[in-house]
Amino acid sequence: MLKLDGITVCYGQIPALRRVSLTVEEGELVTLIGANGAGKTTTLRAISGLLPLTEGSITFRGQSIGGAAPRVVLGQGIAHCPEGRRVFPQLSVRENLEMGAYLRRDHAAVKSDMERLFHRFPRLQERLQQAAGTLSGGEQQMLAIARALMSRPKLVLFDEPSLGLAPNLVEQTFAIVSDIRREGTTVLMVEQNAYAALDMCDRAYLLESGQVVQHGTGQALLANESIQKAYLGA
Ligand SMILES: Nc1ncnc2c1ncn2[C@@H]1O[C@H](COP(=O)(O)OP(=O)(O)O)[C@@H](O)[C@H]1O
Ligand SMILES: [Mg+2]
Repeated sequence: MLKLDGITVCYGQIPALRRVSLTVEEGELVTLIGANGAGKTTTLRAISGLLPLTEGSITFRGQSIGGAAPRVVLGQGIAHCPEGRRVFPQLSVRENLEMGAYLRRDHAAVKSDMERLFHRFPRLQERLQQAAGTLSGGEQQMLAIARALMSRPKLVLFDEPSLGLAPNLVEQTFAIVSDIRREGTTVLMVEQNAYAALDMCDRAYLLESGQVVQHGTGQALLANESIQKAYLGA
């Protein structure tokens, strides 16, 4: 479904990703793990069209999207739930959700999708008119996830959805990501919480200094001794 083929991405002259290749098949939950600064966020930003490629290509459902503008990538069916949540703080919860659907013209369906999301995120419904910046961290994360879903994506990119959340909310967030996949949406998730990420995914890639150094099933990576030592605190 998604294929990154040898992509290099630079900030100025300095490469943050070097010839990264990865694939995500339809229906999969794939995770990208790695230390701080490994290039995980850069990978997602390159897929979303927020960063240009220096080399390599990105294709989604057979179409080239490398170098495409963010709204084009969104229009193809890829939603990005960014690191640090990044809701629009001055806008209300409702307006944030509407922003997620800004490319859609099926307004009646947008409304019913929003109603359906409220079953999963009842707190958002209670706070519809509240400015998003005044929500708690956990509520903002739920809003960021719900906003991404409002585009009816085929693939969702999650960037560290558990970051900065209390332990009970971390669990809840991972449960929501798993539900989203179970309902048929493909997921590529970046996580620093390597144990949880490997345990819940189908396949995983390990990034070190901008390069893919390991990939395999989540279970295989969990069983890998060098990964256990470096990333799982074994
Ligand atoms: N806007 C930027 N300008 C310059 N360098 C950046 C920028 N964003 C990230 N980097 C660098 O690129 C590398 C990868 O960063 P990032 O993708 O954010 O890593 P991760 O998400 O895995 O923590 C790091 O060395 C980081 O310092
Ligand atoms: Mg990051």
